[in-house]
Amino acid sequence: MQIRRATACAFSNLAFCKYWGNIDDALRLPASSSISMNLAGLTTTTSVEFLPELTHDEVFIGGQRVEGEAAARVSRHLAHVRGMATSSLYAHVSSENNFPMGAGIASSASAFAALSLAATSAIGLHLSERELSVLARLGSGSASRSIPGGFVEWHAAPRHEDSYAESFAPPEHWALVDLIAIVSRTHKTTGSTEGHTIAATSPLQTARLESAPARLAACKKAILDHDFPTFSEVVELDSTVMHAVMMTGTPPLFYWQPATLAVMESVRHWRAEGFNVCYTIDAGANVHCLCLASDADTIAAKLSDIEGVSEVLRATPGGPAWLTEQPVTNT
Ligand code: DP6
Repeated sequence: MQIRRATACAFSNLAFCKYWGNIDDALRLPASSSISMNLAGLTTTTSVEFLPELTHDEVFIGGQRVEGEAAARVSRHLAHVRGMATSSLYAHVSSENNFPMGAGIASSASAFAALSLAATSAIGLHLSERELSVLARLGSGSASRSIPGGFVEWHAAPRHEDSYAESFAPPEHWALVDLIAIVSRTHKTTGSTEGHTIAATSPLQTARLESAPARLAACKKAILDHDFPTFSEVVELDSTVMHAVMMTGTPPLFYWQPATLAVMESVRHWRAEGFNVCYTIDAGANVHCLCLASDADTIAAKLSDIEGVSEVLRATPGGPAWLTEQPVTNT
């Protein structure tokens, strides 16, 4: 193998029909298919270099050496890559996000998508988009959706090689804007990896999974038809059903804070006034408000006025993960 280094970038993504719960936690095989949009502007860039002199993987994020579970998770992912390439070399990994890490915005999707592309390229593997998506999924389920571009569906399947994400519309298909109302910067106590293992303990998860395919089909059709009213209805319902599962599991998970509810209520009010806007919430308190580009400045200003909203981030539909010549340095 030619020893080399590669750098890749990937966008984070936002699910409209959520991933919550696995049929196989180790392989991250999801209990339901999900739909998302890549978030242009929320980028992770990762450089990977495999070096013969290393005796273990070294991980740096934002210039800081990372140890413990975060480094072990990266190392477990690199072990998959080593296995695929029949290599025993350890790697130096440097990664950075262009969005504030402490803002409660998920970084595992963009992180494991960028890591998968950089590591396989550095080790000399040439994977298809589907194979890369399958690999990224092993690191973080939602990372499978950050490999292809635009509007994406991640297929639930019983077999490892069949559960991957693919694009069903390019980024320019629909000028949606995600306005992320930051209401909390504290790290969540229960992360999504643990949350997925709790999902099946909720008496509501069976009903959620039974009704998920209909929501997914309606959501996909609404996106393809540029049908914002139907899109709003499905996206808000899917988010609320997931949070109902979270709140009714053992142990129960409550992610919403008072300001989360204040934003939700305002969004419903603005929609009643005629704005094309709706919300969805992941495993945290911050609220993703989706609107049409034509309304984005107005909605962003209104969000900033809500008490408890400290900042509003903005993202538009983004393309696939890509390789770049600009390495990440540790300083
Ligand atoms: C609520 O992909 O972060 O954001 O596979 O353990 O890394 P891991 O979980 P993750 O779960 C995402 C959960 C969610 C919904 C979604 O993005 O679909």
